Amino acid sequence: MSDRPVYEFPADLIEKLRAARHVAVLTGAGVSAESGIPTFRDALTGLWAKYDPMTLATREAFQENPRLVWEWYTWRRNRVGEADPNPAHYALVEIERRVPHFTLITQNVDGLHHRAGSVHVIELHGNITRVKRFDDDVIVERWEDNGLDPVRCPDTGSLLRPDVVWFGELLPAEALQTAQAAAVNCDIFFTIGTAAMVEPAASLPRLAMNYGTPVVIVNPAVTLRSSSSLYLLKGPAGQILPALVQATWGV
Ligand code: OAD
Repeated sequence: MSDRPVYEFPADLIEKLRAARHVAVLTGAGVSAESGIPTFRDALTGLWAKYDPMTLATREAFQENPRLVWEWYTWRRNRVGEADPNPAHYALVEIERRVPHFTLITQNVDGLHHRAGSVHVIELHGNITRVKRFDDDVIVERWEDNGLDPVRCPDTGSLLRPDVVWFGELLPAEALQTAQAAAVNCDIFFTIGTAAMVEPAASLPRLAMNYGTPVVIVNPAVTLRSSSSLYLLKGPAGQILPALVQATWGV
């Protein structure tokens, strides 16, 4: 016998999901929690405990000490490399296979949605596994790191940095526009594992709601009253999402 908790989902939510032509999803750090990836703030343990992320994830910090910021991201990238997608990531792949149009908008920089097999992924905050030139944002595939000096592009000499959005930087405009269009045009909008406090991502569920679209929140730590257009599915995404897929499509 399985010791998995049994979830009861509202019947009208299952019907809406089965009938949906376009499902849009916003994910945040909570989706990767069950893969063992600490959230932004929890990440500062051990060696990095004395640093404040606000003082590392900015252009100013990088300009002041590129080597320090590079090392922090190398450490985080290694942790991401050791992690695997969890059942929440895989359940989203299943949903994408079953609805005609699916848009996955993520604030996570760990690339786990791609690794799980999701196809239509918008990475609003970039991807920690990619590196780009500080001077002109061109992605660079190869570089040399002697473990001491700031790492530079072998072609132009520009400093190299992670391809993520730092505090104070603008989100990639096209990605944001595509995400907003999905929020406006979808039939159901999911907000999964995000505190939805950091703009402009946080405004996406509101945008969907303003268009009368049902919004589903998956989070173990949110207390809200469900209504006909707002569904709160309280619990870890790695349990809720596979159960929802099972209840909707029997898989
Ligand atoms: P947060 O760390 O702010 O929120 C994580 C949310 O996940 C919380 O609401 C938790 O309750 C929830 N959570 C925890 N475990 C969960 C689980 N197993 N299943 C489902 N939910 C769970 O992370 P984000 O909302 O992603 O920005 O933060 C957004 C942005 O703020 C980040 O991308 C980063 C940060 O500043 C930049 O780096 C630009």
